[in-house]
Amino acid sequence: MFNPATIQKLNKLPTPFYYYDLGLLEKTLDSLKKESGKYGYTVHYALKANSNNEIVTAIRKKGFGADCVSGNEVKRAVECGYASDHIVFAGVGKSDAEINYALDQDIFCFNCESLQEMEVISGLAGTRTARVALRINPNVNANTHKYITTGLEENKFGINLWELETVIGRMKTLKNIQLIGIHFHIGSQVTDMNAYKSLCTRVNEIQEWFVSHKIPLEHINVGGGLGLDYHEPDKNAIPDFASFFKIFADFLEVRPGQKVHFELGRALVGQCGSLISKVLYVKKGISTSFVILDAGMTELIRPALYQSYHKIENLSQINNQRSTINNRYDVVGPICESSDCFGKAMMLPETHRGDLIAIRTAGAYGEVMASQYNLRDKVKAIYSN
Ligand code: LLP
Repeated sequence: MFNPATIQKLNKLPTPFYYYDLGLLEKTLDSLKKESGKYGYTVHYALKANSNNEIVTAIRKKGFGADCVSGNEVKRAVECGYASDHIVFAGVGKSDAEINYALDQDIFCFNCESLQEMEVISGLAGTRTARVALRINPNVNANTHKYITTGLEENKFGINLWELETVIGRMKTLKNIQLIGIHFHIGSQVTDMNAYKSLCTRVNEIQEWFVSHKIPLEHINVGGGLGLDYHEPDKNAIPDFASFFKIFADFLEVRPGQKVHFELGRALVGQCGSLISKVLYVKKGISTSFVILDAGMTELIRPALYQSYHKIENLSQINNQRSTINNRYDVVGPICESSDCFGKAMMLPETHRGDLIAIRTAGAYGEVMASQYNLRDKVKAIYSN
């Protein structure tokens, strides 16, 4: 929600830029802490959603851990003050240099995605012991966009259920690996809570397998993926963490002494960020008018890549009593591709050159996925305080 004072302040700044409402971030984190705390769950923030120092540090200060998918993300977490025993490292293609760096930092856990990776980690560990969790592909459908579905057998992620016997057999011969748990992640922007129920059922079955093989598991990491309301960012500014965690409390069988971990990214940071842009031109097309912004797919690629919806607001007209939302526009960027479109047939008040536009729910997978295609300037970030 943008108040007139904020709009006035933002209007004076050169566009485009990301604007982060740190007050909303704080409220979101407080709610997360309260709801996860009810069950003693541990939450690691998935840095891939937004790795800006200010955001990563604010999350660390609330006591959450870090979920990283590259050596540089591990480095960012360390630089932002995360204790090494609060850092987990996932990813299907960890390089030797990345593994070495994480070993040097003595991170809490490697989420291992293949037998080959485990062999490499064991070799590189030398005389040290690397703690690992097996990332198991649960073959559960997250009912989300196919590009961000990760828990089906057809996806490249994790170890398949039918490989478990072989992997465990081989693992027992690896001297420098200590198996401390199992890890799952079914996908991102998950809004169908039944998908998490299915995950719990599958994890329970898999746990039975480990029990029958007399392999103790101290940690169960069920990943992240909790989705956001991109249509009503103000009404649902804080995700429904209570219902999310309750599903796991109700359906996941936790054995004595076991700890349950989550890796949430989008749900923590998505709603606090907006991409702020100005209208360069309003151009008449055949069946629609184009609002051409000074931000494009270079700053926010989600609509072009996943056909995702982001609410678009004309901040210059938001408090204009006379403006009624009765104009249909295609809102596009300046990049030389037709996929550079933030939304087709968007209903907006009459829009003019120079109007300030907010593209909402852009705090997750926005700035981190920005590029400099067309030799664009690197997008900047502004923080409320
Ligand atoms: N854990 C693992 C192993 C992951 O692969 C991911 C996200 C997460 C946790 C965090 O998921 P989240 O809670 O943020 O949904 N660029 C895409 C999203 C890619 C997500 C990749 N993995 C987008 O813009 O929608």
